[in-house]
Amino acid sequence: MRRALLILVAAIAGIGVFTGGLAWLLTDPRPPAGASYGERLYYRSCVECHGRDGRGSWRAALFLLRPGNLASPRVAAESDRYLFDIIKHGGSPIGRPGMPAFGYHLKDDDITELVKYVRTLGKQ
Ligand code: HEC
Repeated sequence: MRRALLILVAAIAGIGVFTGGLAWLLTDPRPPAGASYGERLYYRSCVECHGRDGRGSWRAALFLLRPGNLASPRVAAESDRYLFDIIKHGGSPIGRPGMPAFGYHLKDDDITELVKYVRTLGKQ
């Protein structure tokens, strides 16, 4: 009887430690103090896949997503229109379905701010 109780308590504690650890691991990083509006948007919507520095996060890798490198010269060479469209409509219309569409969540002005912030990633 005592033993069953002990096993139960141990199991509950184990589940607690496991889920707590998972929550700690999966909590999104927070934007630095004094971050611009675009940067805060990036931390809110993009960081879980693209990572702090735009080079892709290990969380995305965990789910076999390959978010590319937003800090690469290739992205820097893309037009504002391209960046705006892929954020608003996602990658699907151009055959790159990994990138979700944000047009339903974000206003055009916000997307413009994100484009500006993505441009700064290549310069860091
Ligand atoms: C669910 C994960 C995920 C989220 C969230 C996400 N992206 Fe992406 N993104 C991707 C993947 C995957 C690709 C690469 C698609 C491909 O090449 O097939 C991509 C591609 C891009 C590209 C094109 C890069 C290139 O190489 O041409 C831009 C720009 C971009 N994302 C910006 C953003 C911005 C800004 C946000 C936040 C509003 C964001 N993404 C949120 C997964 C994500």
